[in-house]
Amino acid sequence: MSGASGSRSVLITGAGRGIGEATARRFADAGYLVGAYDLEPCEWARGDDRFVTGSLDVTDPAAWEAALAELTSRSGGALDVLVNNAGLLYGTPFMDASYARDSALVDVNVKGVLYGCRAAYPYLQKASAPTLINLCSASAIYGQAEMAVYSATKFAVRGITEALDLEWGPQGIRVCSVWPLYVGTGMLEGVNTAGMRNMGVSLTEGDVAEEVLDLAQQTQRAPAGLLGRIRGVLGREVHRPVGRQAKAMYLASQVAPGRLIRLSNKRLTS
Ligand SMILES: NC(=O)c1ccc[n+]([C@@H]2O[C@H](COP(=O)([O-])OP(=O)(O)OC[C@H]3O[C@@H](n4cnc5c(N)ncnc54)[C@H](O)[C@@H]3O)[C@@H](O)[C@H]2O)c1
Repeated sequence: MSGASGSRSVLITGAGRGIGEATARRFADAGYLVGAYDLEPCEWARGDDRFVTGSLDVTDPAAWEAALAELTSRSGGALDVLVNNAGLLYGTPFMDASYARDSALVDVNVKGVLYGCRAAYPYLQKASAPTLINLCSASAIYGQAEMAVYSATKFAVRGITEALDLEWGPQGIRVCSVWPLYVGTGMLEGVNTAGMRNMGVSLTEGDVAEEVLDLAQQTQRAPAGLLGRIRGVLGREVHRPVGRQAKAMYLASQVAPGRLIRLSNKRLTS
């Protein structure tokens, strides 16, 4: 427990709908004080004192500072969990999009995550079992046709996660990511790529929320002290694929030769 209120605290970006909303609700049910932030305050969270809600555009460092100060003023100055969830997607052939859409995806999916990590660090440092969880994607396993930019941004999220896991793990801050495949949220409205048609949409936002909460609770269950730190650096799970398909693809990518991975992705996404 690190909050003044006695409950653990979590800040979730992009919590207005979809995976962010489901995750916010799941953490609240588990007893957390939840900062549910999005471009606009989350209407669904108003009037429920388990939630603090407000505007946070993840591409704006000043907005990060303000949201973190607001939430942690109710949690004794510490942040136990940050969930970098806000994200954008376009799923079309690369040349059907535009410079503006490319920039928007990089700004939100990459810079938004970097800014969140930087802004939250001093607050995570003050928590007893801090966890930073990034929403990555199965599209970080192999570049996805018709999702080139999205896929590239999730490779970046993978890189940020791996680097900070190594850098901050010894300081006791766990950094990890979740990798769902297709989840039936508003993000996929109007998206009709060959990959989606071939693999289908089989996950719900609740499935992802459950895994995010489990990662945070897994950190708490880890042994404390030097042993915990050694185990954390050597053996802790960094990436968690969500769902049967993503798990199989992730596992295959760890053992199969690159050419085989390319071939199977070509089959699945064309
Ligand atoms: N839906 C999927 O199939 C899927 C699969 C794998 C990973 N993901 C990832 O999960 C995360 C959540 O996706 P979702 O499906 O719930 O999407 P969604 O579109 O339903 O929700 C995304 C939320 O992010 C918010 N947002 C957008 N730009 C923002 C900004 N600049 N600042 C703050 N908030 C902003 C939106 O307002 C929205 O509420 C994303 O990072 C996404 O890439 C989704």
